[in-house]
Amino acid sequence: MLDLKKYIDNKNQLINAQLESLLLNCEKSRPLVDAMRYSLMAGGKRIRPLLCLAAAEAVGGRTEDALTAACALEMIHTYSLIHDDLPAMDDDRQRRGKPTSHIAFNEATAILAGDALLTLAFEILSTLEPAANSQRAHRRLAVIHTIAGAAGCRGMIQGQMLDIAAEGTRLSRETLEAMHALKTGALIEASLHCGALLGGASRSQIQMLKTYAANIGLAFQVADDILNVEGNPQLMGKAVGTDALREKSTYPSLLGLEDSKRFARNLIQNALQAIETFDKKSEPLRAIAVYIIERKR
Ligand code: IPE
Ligand code: IPE
Ligand code: MG
Ligand code: MG
Repeated sequence: MLDLKKYIDNKNQLINAQLESLLLNCEKSRPLVDAMRYSLMAGGKRIRPLLCLAAAEAVGGRTEDALTAACALEMIHTYSLIHDDLPAMDDDRQRRGKPTSHIAFNEATAILAGDALLTLAFEILSTLEPAANSQRAHRRLAVIHTIAGAAGCRGMIQGQMLDIAAEGTRLSRETLEAMHALKTGALIEASLHCGALLGGASRSQIQMLKTYAANIGLAFQVADDILNVEGNPQLMGKAVGTDALREKSTYPSLLGLEDSKRFARNLIQNALQAIETFDKKSEPLRAIAVYIIERKR
C-alpha cells in the first residue's frame, strides 16, 4: 500500500526546490521577493501541485513534465491567500503558522507580492524549453489557457467575489455549492486537468479526472469550513471561528457539522468511483482524496 506521507514528503521536496530556484531569478527585486518567499515558503500543504503531479503520474506521465505547472499553481494559490487575508477581504492575522503578509510586511507590499506571484506563475508557464516540439508547445498553451480560466473572473476570483458579497446573508445550498466550486474547486480542477494534459492523458481519462476533481474540490472546501468550526488553530496555522464571526455562508452553517461531514464523505466516494478504472499508478490520487477530508490542517 502507498505510504502517503512519504509520497507527499518526496514530491514536496521537489516542488519546494523548484520554487526556491524560480525565486532566485527575482533576487534583485527586494524587498518584494522577500515577501513573495515569505508566503510561498511558509509551509503550505501543496495540495494543488501534488494533485497536478499525481494526475500526470496516474495517466502514465512523468513528474518532470508537470513540475513547472505544479509550481505555477502553488504561486497562484499563495497569491490568492495573501489577498484573501487582507483587511479589505477576510482580515486575518495568521496564515500557515505565521503572521499574514500584510502584518509581517505592510498592506501595499502584501498586495504587490500577490500580484508578482500571479504574474510570475504565467511567466514560468510560458517559458518553453529550447527542445520543445510543437506537440509540447500546444500542450503548454492548453495548460496556460486552463489555469488562466480557472484563476480569473470565471473561476476563483468570481468565487471570492461571491464569498465577500454573501457575508451576512444566507445562501441556498445550490448557490453555496456554486460559490465553492468557483472559489476553491476551479483551481483544484485545473491542477488535475493540467497534470493530466502534461502527462499525455486521453480525452476519456481527462473526463474521469474532471469528475474526480469536481468532487474532491467541493469536499476540500467543505473540510475547510468544518475545520474553521472545530479545528485546532495550532495545527492549522490559522485562526478558527472566523467564518461565524464574519457571518460567512458555509456548509456547517447551512447543514450543521454532522451532515456536512457526511456530505464530504459522499463526495470522496464519488471521486473514488470516477477513477475506478485507472490502474495502480492512480494510487496517490486515491490516497489524496481520502486525506482531503481526514486532514487536521
Ligand atoms: C486554504 O487552502 C484556502 C482554501 C482554498 C480553502 P489550503 O488548505 O490548501 O492552504 P495551504 O496551502 O495548505 O496553506
Ligand atoms: C480562501 O477561502 C479561498 C481562496 C483564497 C481562493 P477561505 O477564506 O474560506 O479560506 P481560509 O479559511 O481563509 O484559508
Ligand atoms: Mg475568504
Ligand atoms: Mg479566508
